[in-house]
Amino acid sequence: MSFLTLSNIKKSFGPVRVVHDFNMSIDQGEFVSFLGPSGCGKTTVLRMVAGFEEPSAGSIVIDGKDQTSLKPNQRNIGMVFQAYALFPNMNVFDNVAFGLKVAGVAKSEIDKRVNEMLELIGLSHLADRYPYQMSGGQQQRVALARALAPRPQVLLLDEPLSALDAKIRVSLREEIRAIQRKLGITTIFVTHDQEEALSISDRVVVMNAGRADQIGTPFEIYNTPATRFVASFVGTLNLITGAVVDSNNVRIGENVLTLKQSLDGYKMGDEIQLALRPEAASLTPSPKDDTTLSGIVTSSHFLGSVIRTRLDVGGNTISFDMFNDPGLKLPPIGAPATLHFAADDLLVIKD
Ligand SMILES: Nc1ncnc2c1ncn2[C@@H]1O[C@H](COP(=O)(O)OP(=O)(O)O)[C@@H](O)[C@H]1O
Ligand SMILES: [Mg+2]
Repeated sequence: MSFLTLSNIKKSFGPVRVVHDFNMSIDQGEFVSFLGPSGCGKTTVLRMVAGFEEPSAGSIVIDGKDQTSLKPNQRNIGMVFQAYALFPNMNVFDNVAFGLKVAGVAKSEIDKRVNEMLELIGLSHLADRYPYQMSGGQQQRVALARALAPRPQVLLLDEPLSALDAKIRVSLREEIRAIQRKLGITTIFVTHDQEEALSISDRVVVMNAGRADQIGTPFEIYNTPATRFVASFVGTLNLITGAVVDSNNVRIGENVLTLKQSLDGYKMGDEIQLALRPEAASLTPSPKDDTTLSGIVTSSHFLGSVIRTRLDVGGNTISFDMFNDPGLKLPPIGAPATLHFAADDLLVIKD
């Protein structure tokens, strides 16, 4: 049963429509990420869930109760923003206690809950510190504790890690996920970082220009992108132009390949777009590989654990990765080479 339901949500600012018919059902305890480039409407959808913006159309229901026209303080939602929005003149304890005080919770209960929250984020020893005395990562943990202290029904996180440096980002995202699991709180996490979204979410919503292009598990989003936008935004992808030969075969450069997907609806000679992930192809065939593409090596870059090589195949540049192995023999630039992969890994992109 859906716990949080967004139905036919639209939002315009003046004449400009920034959210188009957004639909989503989130289960209780689920961790969902909104992933998309800057300006695609992630924050606007989140602000509508929190009640800071009113939808131009559509409804927001949480636990069976319509919230669409409720004010933010009438909703039971916790929110964490990108910039550390702690109160600079309050210490950690008072920051976390803030929402409870506003709600008129008794002092003994406030003490108990703040201490629980500080324990949860591992900062009990810093209760007396002020925000300026803490690192960015610590401040964001306090912001999380402050959002969770009133025991909200839904937690909203708007790019909470993007102001932090890379190492802290990775450890804090894992910590946020662990806390979320422990509390079982329904969560929407906004990010423009695909690795972040894929690594911690139950499901990912890939947003493009105010629409949800695809909603699915990280595995589905990465392995079977629904649109060209999803395919190119999530991961590094080769987009290859081919010409239809018949309902199963496509020509790419000098190669004719048999696809797993049928090409019904296309005519001979039609141009189609195909997608192949860099990690799916290799110069040395593995047992599952039943398809080949031949071309000319144009570059090879050592990236540490992998070597990324590019091949020109009939005007298409195809990148592929191979694990670093001291025994690996790379063909020289300008030499012919043949890529091996499974026909399953070559996807027809339909939009
Ligand atoms: N209050 C507002 N008034 C006018 N335009 C806005 C307002 N808030 C957001 N927008 C516009 O809506 C679009 C989506 O913004 P936003 O939801 O902040 O995107 P994201 O969070 O994905 O970067 C952008 O084009 C932005 O300029
Ligand atoms: Mg935003």
